[in-house]
Amino acid sequence: MRGLRTETAESIVDLIGGTPLIRLGKLEPRPGVEVYAKAEFCNPGGSVKDRAALQMIQDGVASGALTRDKTIIDSTSGNTGVAYSMVGAALGYKVALVMPANVSAARKQISASYGTEIIFSSELEGSDGAIRMVRQLVAENPGKYFYPDQYSNDSNPRAHYLGTGREIWEQTGGRVTHFVAGIGTTGTIMGTGRRLKEYSPRVQIVAVEPDDALHGLEGLKHLPSSLVPAIWRPEGIVDRRLPMPTEEAWDTAEEVAHHEGLFVGHSAGAAVAGALRVARELPEGERACIVTLLPDRGDRYFTPLKWEKQYEW
Ligand SMILES: Cc1ncc(COP(=O)(O)O)c(C=O)c1O
Repeated sequence: MRGLRTETAESIVDLIGGTPLIRLGKLEPRPGVEVYAKAEFCNPGGSVKDRAALQMIQDGVASGALTRDKTIIDSTSGNTGVAYSMVGAALGYKVALVMPANVSAARKQISASYGTEIIFSSELEGSDGAIRMVRQLVAENPGKYFYPDQYSNDSNPRAHYLGTGREIWEQTGGRVTHFVAGIGTTGTIMGTGRRLKEYSPRVQIVAVEPDDALHGLEGLKHLPSSLVPAIWRPEGIVDRRLPMPTEEAWDTAEEVAHHEGLFVGHSAGAAVAGALRVARELPEGERACIVTLLPDRGDRYFTPLKWEKQYEW
């Protein structure tokens, strides 16, 4: 058990980042191949997206694009919405989110609980439909919104360049040989990958993506059938794209919970499954320090218990 945290925080946003790196020793295929996971569910909003949301908002304020009279608006499959909502509330900005009507009830409610306005797009058009709708709203109401646009905003990967990548290098003492992560907006892999490649071009960067357009890995994108994010510039950064079946990711999420005591979301299952494939494919006798990333916890996907402002008995 670790000791008392002695520091106090001025704001919840000061607790974003600096997440632990946890060894997945029970799942390692053989001695000499270490597998670690960056526990991004330890961020105060519960996911990796706290980092990107804070960076985009801070950079928006610094550039003058985000002023006190504006509402932060974006499309989100959920975690980014929670992160905007938390950071917006803590820093005193209004937030509006466009999300497909069929995203999990828990996540709509979490964002709404911070005082965020939720606007629904067609459930038939998925996350791309939410992107189109937010663009339309911003075009129709010039001056009303600050639209960070996480798919095109360089501050999204920058959060990981400044934070996640540096942290992984320091936490492994520069021993990291592979970084394996799922891709949604691609901010995590692009920023972390860029930073690790700068430290050492030998670090292999592996992007895990769903193997099919129809998949059950919330938060991840099947790029061949999606609007490709503008921040996705894999040349010189991403060494390998690893297609992942939903079943393998879900089974691995279960294994991570059963054997490591880490109850994680399905995209984390996909990332760990990718890391274990990389581990198993290594030539006999080769040593490695593989780092993957756990974007959020499994209980984010539960149907919520009753959470209403006023109960009716
Ligand atoms: C659960 C989950 N996993 C993975 C990702 C992908 O991260 P990124 O958008 O940095 O590629 C996201 C992003 O929204 C997510 O919510």
